[in-house]
Amino acid sequence: MANVFEGMEEGFRIFKNRDALSPHYIPSELPFREREISLLSRKIAPVLSGRKPENIFIYGKTGTGKTAVTKKVLSDLNEYARKKGLPVMGLYVNGRLHDSEYKVLVKVVKLIDPNMDMMGYSISAVNDKLLETVEGKELRLVVAVDEIDTVKRVSDLVYRLNRSNDEISRGSISLIGISNDPTFKDKLDARTRSTLCEVELVFPPYDAEQLRVILTQRAKEAFVEGAVTEDAIALAAAYAAKHSGDARYALLLLLRAGDIAEEEGAERVERIHVEKARKRVEEDIVYDMVSTLPEQHRVLLLALANMVLKKSGISGFSGEPVITSGLLYSVYRKTAEEYGLSPVSDRWFREYLNELQTYGIISVKVAGKGFRGNTRIVELNVDPSKLRSVIEKSL
Ligand SMILES: Nc1ncnc2c1ncn2[C@@H]1O[C@H](COP(=O)(O)OP(=O)(O)O)[C@@H](O)[C@H]1O
Ligand SMILES: [Mg+2]
Repeated sequence: MANVFEGMEEGFRIFKNRDALSPHYIPSELPFREREISLLSRKIAPVLSGRKPENIFIYGKTGTGKTAVTKKVLSDLNEYARKKGLPVMGLYVNGRLHDSEYKVLVKVVKLIDPNMDMMGYSISAVNDKLLETVEGKELRLVVAVDEIDTVKRVSDLVYRLNRSNDEISRGSISLIGISNDPTFKDKLDARTRSTLCEVELVFPPYDAEQLRVILTQRAKEAFVEGAVTEDAIALAAAYAAKHSGDARYALLLLLRAGDIAEEEGAERVERIHVEKARKRVEEDIVYDMVSTLPEQHRVLLLALANMVLKKSGISGFSGEPVITSGLLYSVYRKTAEEYGLSPVSDRWFREYLNELQTYGIISVKVAGKGFRGNTRIVELNVDPSKLRSVIEKSL
């Protein structure tokens, strides 16, 4: 009798290890970043001989490998220091998760010693603890703050960490700031800029050919042999090259194309699946963005999504309900109160609508026929139920 499991694996023909395409996966090789890896490590290397490295500012568009390269270099630094018994530590902090001077300091202390949780103490207590620990252990720290542009009052953080070096007689603290925003540097005051940007490192976008190589390498780990065509990979690379050379976008595109091929029961991922994946990836990006919006914006979107789902609104010219900004404002106020927030004024509300419109998530139009002069109507450009579930999860 044949094995009862014979043929049951069929649904899993496409992926071998789907995680290899996730943004959190750390690839073993980082092609086309040899120069950046070598520059960054050479600038940090003095720390091994007891000298304080200069502060470093890394910037470049999203998906150009800044996070991957920094993590790789810090992990090699830590491994080397351990092997040689040096009191050197490379620490990685994500500014999006630790978005104030205070939270970054608490995180740094905790990374040095997981038993030291200073959450709730005053900022000067946390800082004293940090300096005392660095001095006591003669630590030489390299602190990387990723997405540093999302940290509030970033100047204070830069200034404080840098000044620490004057207050301690042993050990040192150097800073690596990383930003996806090419204009961030220009927004800093002159003193912070010159402190943080002692060394600058720019990551250029990848071109289509480079993305093709990166995808091919990841595809080997992610897909069953022969389950993705070279054409499909080349197309995903070409799309991502147009999308500002973003490797994250390229990987996401291939991941979604694989999902679609699997859903369709296709034998392999082909160009058509990549084409279909584009729409889904655009949506993924919108929902990702939504979950990082300020609370008030999310509550506003939640109110709008609920109205669309309930088909509430004023009957418009075509008979379909339309949502005027006045109506939305009153529903928004109720929703805000339900979530324990005080509703913003009408003026701010309109400001938020404008912002959300520039993100492309809503459209605001003049109502026209059948409405009073300057009545504005609001339309949602994404799927309301998916939007609602993303926001409800985040609130
Ligand atoms: N040179 C490369 N080789 C392989 N994968 C890469 C390379 N550069 C970036 N990636 C991958 O692309 C994604 C985005 O890279 P990331 O370092 O997060 O970009 P950034 O921090 O600049 O936005 C990650 O999944 C990363 O592993
Ligand atoms: Mg990054």
